Amino acid sequence: MEHRSRHAPALRRFLWGAATSAFQMEGAPACDWTFWKVRDEADRAARLRGVGHLDRTEEDLGLLSSLGVNAYRFSVEWSRVAPRRRDWDRKAMDRYVRIAARLREAGIEPMVTLHHFTNPGWLADGASWAEGDARGEFLRFAEKAVRALREHVRLWVTFNEPNVYVTGGYLGGLMPPGRKNLREGFNVYANILSAHALVYDLIHAGARERPAVGVAHSMVVFRPFSEKSSLDGWAARVAHAFYNLSLIEAFRTGTLSLRLPFLHEEAFPVGTRDKLDFLGVNYYFRLFLRLSPVSIRGPEYFWEDRSRRGLTETGWEVYPKGFEETLRTASAAGVPIVVTENGTAETSDRRKIAYMKDHLRVLHRLIREGTDIRGYFWWSLMDNYEWLEGLRPRFGLYRVDFDSLERVPTNSADFYSRWIKKHPDPLHEP
Ligand code: FCB
Repeated sequence: MEHRSRHAPALRRFLWGAATSAFQMEGAPACDWTFWKVRDEADRAARLRGVGHLDRTEEDLGLLSSLGVNAYRFSVEWSRVAPRRRDWDRKAMDRYVRIAARLREAGIEPMVTLHHFTNPGWLADGASWAEGDARGEFLRFAEKAVRALREHVRLWVTFNEPNVYVTGGYLGGLMPPGRKNLREGFNVYANILSAHALVYDLIHAGARERPAVGVAHSMVVFRPFSEKSSLDGWAARVAHAFYNLSLIEAFRTGTLSLRLPFLHEEAFPVGTRDKLDFLGVNYYFRLFLRLSPVSIRGPEYFWEDRSRRGLTETGWEVYPKGFEETLRTASAAGVPIVVTENGTAETSDRRKIAYMKDHLRVLHRLIREGTDIRGYFWWSLMDNYEWLEGLRPRFGLYRVDFDSLERVPTNSADFYSRWIKKHPDPLHEP
C-alpha cells in the first residue's frame, strides 16, 4: 500500500491548510441537520445560511490567498446537489467545481470531503445507513460529484469522522437521526466503511493523475478519571480500542471488528484493506472516563482542566501532549498522515495562538523524528456554525460578526501565516 500512496503528486509537498465543511459555512435548506433540534428562530436562520458563504464564496476564497495556505479542505453538501431523490442540481454542483478550479488557479490544493455529517432530508424516507440502502444513494451522489470535480481535485476525504457519526447519531443520540441502538450503530459503521472502499475504487478508476483518498478520523486521548479505579481504566482502554483503533485496523485487515465487552461484539468484512492513501487525523482533546459499578448507561465522559491551562470555549482541555500520542497511534495505519483538523474555540487571540504554537511544535518534532505527516489543516478558516452549539464557539482564523457576517482577520491568522512562511517545507527542514 505504501508504494502507491507515497507518490501521490498532491502529497509530495507539505500541505498547509485550513478546513471547513459546507453545512457549517453555507447552511442547507433541506438536510437532516436543517431540522434537527432547532433551538429558536435565530438558530433556524443559521441552519439555513451558515455564515453566508454562499453569497461570499469569492471573498472567502480570497482569504485563503491572504493567509498563504497552499491547501483548503471543504465539503460538498449532498442535499444541495441532490435536493430530491434522483434529482441533480447541476448549478449547485458547478459552484463546487468553480471553487475547486479557482483554488487550483491560485495554487491552493483543494481537498474535498464528500460526506461531512449531513445527509439529504429525503434520504430518511426509505433509506438508512443502518440498513445499507443509504450506501447505494451515497454512491450515486459520489460518482457524479467525483466525475464533476476530478479535473481539479486530487485529494479526497470520503467521510468525515465515521466514529463521531456513529457515536453521535446512533449510540449517544446527540446527532441526527438521534438513535441509541448499538446494533444499528455497528451496522452504520460497517456500511460507511464499505462505502468508503467503493468510492476509493471509483475515484482511482477514472483518475488521470494519481489521487490520494483518505478518511478524516477523529482521535481522542482517553484517560481513566481515577488512576486507581480499574473500572475507569478498563473504560478508557475499551474506548480507545473502539473509537481510535477499530477504523485503523479495518484499513489493515479489511474487517471492522467492534468490541464493547459484555454488550456487543461483531466483525464485519468491509473491503477496506489497502484502500487508504492517507489517514486524516482530527485531533482536539483528551477525555476522562468514569465507570461506576452501578451505572447502566455506560461510562461518563468529561473534560477536566488537569493541564491547568483553562478549558476552551467549548469546554475542552488544552492538551498538546495528546496530539503527539495521537499521531504516534495514527502512524500504525502504515500510510502517510494528514492532520485534517486541529484547532480551538477561543475569542482570546493569545489563547488561540498558544494552542496553535504548542500543537505545531509537536507536529514539527514528530516530522523531524520521521513520522510520515504530510499536511496540517487548521479548523477552521473562519468562525462558523458549530454542530451542537450553533453560532457561538470561535474556531476561526477569521472572526465572523454573526450579525453583519463581516469577516475580520485575527492575530491567529497572522501568526499562522508567518509560521507557514517560516516553514514552507517541514519535510525537508534541517
Ligand atoms: C469536528 C468536526 C468539525 C468541527 C470540529 C470542531 O468534530 O469534524 O466539523 O465541528 O469538530
